[in-house]
Amino acid sequence: MAIKPEATAGNTDWFIHDRFGLFIHWGLYALPARHEWVKNRERIPDSTYQKYFEHFDPDLYDPKEWAKAAKKAGMKYFVVTTKHHEGFCLWDSKLTDYKATNTPAGRDLLKPMVEAFREEGLKIGFYHSLIDWHHPEFPVDGIHPQRDDKEFREKEKDRDITKYAEYLHKQTRELLTQFGKIDIIWFDFSYSGMADNGKGKDDWQSEKLLDMVRELMPGIIVNDRLEIGGDIKTPEQVQPREWVKVDGKPVVWEACQTLNGSWGYDRDNLDWKSVELLVQMLIDTVSKGGNLLLNVGPTGRGYFDPKAIDRLEGIGEWMKYNSRSIYGASQSEFTAPVDCRLTQNGDRLYIHVFAWPFKQLHMEGMAGKIKYAQLLHDASEVRYSENMDNGMVSFNLPVQRPDVVVPVIELFLK
Ligand code: GLC
Repeated sequence: MAIKPEATAGNTDWFIHDRFGLFIHWGLYALPARHEWVKNRERIPDSTYQKYFEHFDPDLYDPKEWAKAAKKAGMKYFVVTTKHHEGFCLWDSKLTDYKATNTPAGRDLLKPMVEAFREEGLKIGFYHSLIDWHHPEFPVDGIHPQRDDKEFREKEKDRDITKYAEYLHKQTRELLTQFGKIDIIWFDFSYSGMADNGKGKDDWQSEKLLDMVRELMPGIIVNDRLEIGGDIKTPEQVQPREWVKVDGKPVVWEACQTLNGSWGYDRDNLDWKSVELLVQMLIDTVSKGGNLLLNVGPTGRGYFDPKAIDRLEGIGEWMKYNSRSIYGASQSEFTAPVDCRLTQNGDRLYIHVFAWPFKQLHMEGMAGKIKYAQLLHDASEVRYSENMDNGMVSFNLPVQRPDVVVPVIELFLK
């Protein structure tokens, strides 16, 4: 029996079919270009951080190109940072001056992005930071950039989280009423366990916020970082061992991963994952019943840098021929041969061969169950022998590994 997580309030039907999305982290931190947590890491006060606001001028920004690149990579939805922890807003919020329209960019950057991705047929998701290191009523805590500035803390000790929560709720309302249908809202994040003024559901007024979200946008998918559950579980920068469970029950889940360990544009970063590794991560995720949300951090001039484009194109090249093993597919009940991952979609079983073996690939428990076998990328027949005594099937593979980053064998089951 295939695993099917219990239904939640959000509509995840399209989501578990589509499997693959683009995460975009874009804000002022693209200018320092050394991680989106730079304000925290370097303990930068607002007055110093202001230079990024004053120089934010993405003159080469063309969201149509972004949307096309995502689509070509095989991505079916995207999630963009409307506001990250630094507090800067990409849209023309009526509730703050700290927004793109007041930078040299001089315009709402979110609206054209939503339109461009919608135009390419991708679903729309908003990441929205619960944390805000710019808002004057956001109480200073252990991850605030000015946590170590005693004078500042003393001066700001009367900050009122309920006023910040009101801002958070009202901005969420703007986001869910001014951009048409939004398919995912991705709040980030809660840390009530942290000793120094940690924050969580009581601070965000998560229940009330969620009620409003559900009312404004029925069917929207809400992630799990409000500290009150949600429709999807979102493990970050890890590949889980198995289908993600909550209280012992499998749930709808989405791994979020970076191309190089940083979410925001990170100029000097050398940790770039290869196309092969990224394709393997996508396959591994689907083989455990999950989605992959893969991140690009665009530059301050508003384009995807060549290394990101290279990865997206490489993944797209693989997807062009092999996406049948991804869309609509999920974990299989069968046991994968060594060095392989399985996905299944009804009577089609997909063997993803991570390490190419010499001539034969052996698979247990399959004798008598296969109608036909082929390599997925070129529909060339794969012949096999069956041992009815022990259930073993041995596929005959060419000595030369096919020239695709991860070869896939497609089995038509009886
Ligand atoms: C985090 C980080 C962050 C990133 C995100 C993506 O919690 O704070 O910078 O946006 O998760 O999952």
